Amino acid sequence: MMLSRFISLFGVLAGASVTVRKTGQGPTGYEVTFRYENATASSITIGSGLQPFTDLYHATPFGSARFDPRDYQPGWFFANYFGPPWDLPYQMMNMGNGSWVYTTPLPSGTYNYAYLVDCLGNTTCDIDSGKYVIDPDEPPFLNVQGDQTQSTFQVPFDPEFQYDPDINVNFDYALPVDEAHRGTVHNVNYTSPGSVHPAQDVHDFVIYLPYGYNNVTNRKYPIMYLSHGGGGDAQDWQNLAQASHILDRLILEKHIVPTVVVMPSFYNIAPEYKQVYGSRNPPAVAPSAPVVRENYMKYLMPFVEKTFAVSTTPSERAFAGLSLGGRLTYEMYINATDYFGYFGIFSGATFGGPGSYVNASMIAAKPALRERGIFTSVGLYDFAFDDIRGLEAAFQANAVPFLGRVVPFGYHAWNTWQDCLWFFGRKALWKSLPFKVNAIVSTQL
Ligand SMILES: *[C@@H]1O[C@H](CO)[C@@H](O)[C@H](O)[C@H]1NC(C)=O
Ligand SMILES: *[C@@H]1O[C@H](CO)[C@@H](O)[C@H](O)[C@H]1NC(C)=O
Ligand SMILES: *[C@@H]1O[C@H](CO)[C@@H](O)[C@H](O)[C@H]1NC(C)=O
Ligand SMILES: *[C@@H]1O[C@H](CO)[C@@H](O)[C@H](O)[C@H]1NC(C)=O
Ligand SMILES: *[C@@H]1O[C@H](CO)[C@@H](O)[C@H](O)[C@H]1NC(C)=O
Ligand SMILES: *[C@@H]1O[C@H](CO)[C@@H](O)[C@H](O)[C@H]1NC(C)=O
Ligand SMILES: *[C@@H]1O[C@H](CO)[C@@H](O)[C@H](O)[C@H]1NC(C)=O
Repeated sequence: MMLSRFISLFGVLAGASVTVRKTGQGPTGYEVTFRYENATASSITIGSGLQPFTDLYHATPFGSARFDPRDYQPGWFFANYFGPPWDLPYQMMNMGNGSWVYTTPLPSGTYNYAYLVDCLGNTTCDIDSGKYVIDPDEPPFLNVQGDQTQSTFQVPFDPEFQYDPDINVNFDYALPVDEAHRGTVHNVNYTSPGSVHPAQDVHDFVIYLPYGYNNVTNRKYPIMYLSHGGGGDAQDWQNLAQASHILDRLILEKHIVPTVVVMPSFYNIAPEYKQVYGSRNPPAVAPSAPVVRENYMKYLMPFVEKTFAVSTTPSERAFAGLSLGGRLTYEMYINATDYFGYFGIFSGATFGGPGSYVNASMIAAKPALRERGIFTSVGLYDFAFDDIRGLEAAFQANAVPFLGRVVPFGYHAWNTWQDCLWFFGRKALWKSLPFKVNAIVSTQL
């Protein structure tokens, strides 16, 4: 799917509604054209993931400059935005014959979007509204219909137009590697009694199998579990963040050995946690972290170990996740300490504030809490900033070795979590232990 977008740089791709084109000109060196056919619509907004930009001087945890990428300057980055979509610049132009077009320069990044039809004004245009249309030509990665509601494309970095000495906002590590070195990504159904999705007593996960998996008999691969966050599901990491591209590159550049990655899903494990993805109906209630841990330990992990060539050595098992998945990772660290060797806690740990973090009596009762490979990471403008910093302070106060990173352009958003995964792989995953006791805060890409 990604490849076709790059082939389209050299010609018109019939039916493709998003075209990424290298222009060799400012403001970013790349131009993206969206096309959409709808003869009866009176407005079409590109929304649901396409956000405005900000610079370092207008970014706060609660807002951003809301810059239009057509005015792009080096150092701008993609920012969370909570206002109505019609206040954004991404309004398509009616060509008068049923075709709608929008062309904009964009800088390096992975972008998610959907079309909002007739959404101008005071209307809710989310998935429940009937005004939300998933791009039929760029379908999301999913297991069953409805698992994902956004399409995705990526724009490369052009150093001539995008380099800024103050901040590096280059997401080329999420571009696909050459075809010969790509792993494969699959949806897998497994038996999980009580689950209500994708079928009664059947739950699902996404698995990444590295390049060369299956070539070598009896080889057991290290295994990482990688969790979504609140409102998300198993397909998020792959669909919204290009997880397999990042993992391919981590392996190709030898930052990690070939690793199997399971992306599970914590909603729908029982009827009371039923989630219709992207919908408010029913309101999705996330199971508590201990409930998820018990469920995964009982059904998910045994299935994975029985079905795939993965290691059962704790030092070759990792758990990582974002936001509520970071909360889940912290739970695994505290309550499944001996099962895993490495933990990646991204943008959320306990959401409990002071007193909720690891303390001296917990460590006295379980010294292994000091013997794990822990990586914490959070965006500088992320609402989970204080939570991760509180955890890091508790680690430091209790001499728990860890590595910590602040993502310099980071909101509570997928580009932050792409960075978390990339640097978890580069700096922490499967690296020799113990890490140095002091936190290392790196802002270098
Ligand atoms: C086209 O626009 C109409 C509104 O005029 C809307 O009801 C319909 O869902 C749209 N269809 C698509 C595929 O966008
Ligand atoms: C509508 O007009 C535009 C601009 O001339 C053209 O590119 C597009 O293909 C036309 N669409 C249809 C459906 O004919
Ligand atoms: C939409 O209309 C409702 C009811 O009049 C009002 O309470 C709300 O503030 C409006 N929202 C926006 C974003 O204008
Ligand atoms: C998983 O189960 C659902 C529901 O039966 C089905 O639609 C889907 O195709 C299955 N997926 C796989 C990968 O087998
Ligand atoms: C795995 O086998 C395929 C097909 O024989 C080969 O092309 C590939 O290079 C092998 N990969 C590894 C990592 O050994
Ligand atoms: C560990 O598990 C216990 C028992 O389920 C639970 O009460 C506690 O909250 C968990 N600790 C953390 C840090 O999640
Ligand atoms: C440490 O944390 C445990 C578990 O949350 C709690 O029961 C205990 O009171 C705490 N100890 C101190 C000294 O804060």
